[in-house]
Amino acid sequence: MDFFLWWRDGVIYQIYPRSFSDSNGDGLGDLVGIVSHLDYLQDLGIDAIWLSPFQPTPDKDFGYDISNYMDVDPRFGTLADFSRLVAEAHRRDIRIILDLVLNHTSDQHTWFRESRSSQDNLKRDWYIWRDHPNNWQASFGGSAWEYDPVTRQYYLHLFTKEQPDVNWRNREVRKAMLDVFRFWMELGADGFRLDVFNAYFKDPQLPDNPPKFGLRAFDRQQHIHDIDQPEMMPFLNELRSLLDSYPERYAVGETYLATLPKTVSYCGKGKLHAAFSFDFTANDLSFPWNPAWLRDQIARREEVFNGAAIWPTTVMSNHDLPRAAGRYGRGEDDAQAKLAMTLLLTLRGTPFLYYGEEIAMRDISLKRSEILDPPGRKYWPIYKGRDGCRSPMQWNDEPFAGFSNTRPWLPVHPDYAQRNVAAQQADPHSMFNFTKDLLRLRKETPALRRGSYTPLQAPRGTLAYLRQTDDQSVLVAMNFSKRQVNLPWPAGDWRVILTTSEDARGVLAPYQIQLFIKV
Ligand code: GLC
Repeated sequence: MDFFLWWRDGVIYQIYPRSFSDSNGDGLGDLVGIVSHLDYLQDLGIDAIWLSPFQPTPDKDFGYDISNYMDVDPRFGTLADFSRLVAEAHRRDIRIILDLVLNHTSDQHTWFRESRSSQDNLKRDWYIWRDHPNNWQASFGGSAWEYDPVTRQYYLHLFTKEQPDVNWRNREVRKAMLDVFRFWMELGADGFRLDVFNAYFKDPQLPDNPPKFGLRAFDRQQHIHDIDQPEMMPFLNELRSLLDSYPERYAVGETYLATLPKTVSYCGKGKLHAAFSFDFTANDLSFPWNPAWLRDQIARREEVFNGAAIWPTTVMSNHDLPRAAGRYGRGEDDAQAKLAMTLLLTLRGTPFLYYGEEIAMRDISLKRSEILDPPGRKYWPIYKGRDGCRSPMQWNDEPFAGFSNTRPWLPVHPDYAQRNVAAQQADPHSMFNFTKDLLRLRKETPALRRGSYTPLQAPRGTLAYLRQTDDQSVLVAMNFSKRQVNLPWPAGDWRVILTTSEDARGVLAPYQIQLFIKV
């Protein structure tokens, strides 16, 4: 049986709206800009778009601090533009997923303005106010409590002080949040990515977190009271009923600091469809990259997700991480980027492809004075923040890479004259054409989407596995090393369906990737 379920079989493409395409010459991308590239995305072969937030925001966390959940920031367009985006995407069989940032609002949201106006305001209890702070730390640095001199209490914020945490224990808050889901589904949204959803509920007694070893004050605590509270489950049941009252809607959660078993516990019947497990990106400061480590990571996630019959997701890059191409590759060579793309598109799970990953965009590097991202400003030079992976999409070699006709909000990567969509479309060996071929193969080949995963014995420096359904077997072989390696051949007759260099059976050239199908 091979029916195509968009969020399970499809590939989801993440767009950071302010960096994708600027249609009105203000240096910021917008919804109309996205519409103008839907043909491109359809041709690439993706199935859904996850849009990072485009609601009104004072930009203290670049869209992740929202001052009105039910509107579009005028810099990004209008609600009518959103409806047009949905209609045009649907016409091309592309689904739209919204990023909902509901753990906290902006401090400019009317809810918070009211809440902070007096201790007896009707919305006072919509946020978390206390006379005395506990030891909780904000993940972007400093105490998680901010003193408000007007009402002489502290409010809780797990991120910047301009992102007060909402009190999810308040019933009216939960109702208001469900209305947000309803609002966007009525406008045609197909799904949601829930920002740090497992932090919605905090321990009501607000006890201190116990200590542990770590680098920053934030890491020197066990986060047991500020996240993963049991009240999350009944809320997820309620949310899932709402989603299921519309056809084929989807929710994927961004698990925050969660273990694999915890992540899986949030998914399934009456809960979320999926949650990110970040198996290949989890460590903020060092990123191991070798077949032995990858094989272990894959085995672990297979065990936990398969054991619970939950469908995994695969992520190599996103708006919070250094881009995979530069994380693992040196200079402008794309061999490592192709290996990362092969894992992304051939492992068991829904792939999340980050804009520009299809041309192996690299992070920009900024001087300290140019850094915009709050944690980067706080922790430079130990941590330079997330601006690097958010630079404008490189469409062509025109000024500002065809992203805009004016200076963009973040600089374009200096390699854009060579590394851009137009140039790579014309080059049969480019990252773009490699990605497009792999996306097409994935769509045509049920084993690559639905098949089981079986690791194969492979020599040092290589990774090989099978993806199999009852009537189809695909073999994926990758050489991560700069040496030619002999790969013992499995029994049977195999036909090459993709290769990055001259096909020679039983031999993998340096960095070669080969996919075979059993005939
Ligand atoms: C999530 C987002 C990140 C944001 C944070 C606070 O981790 O992915 O970009 O800064 O939540 O909303």
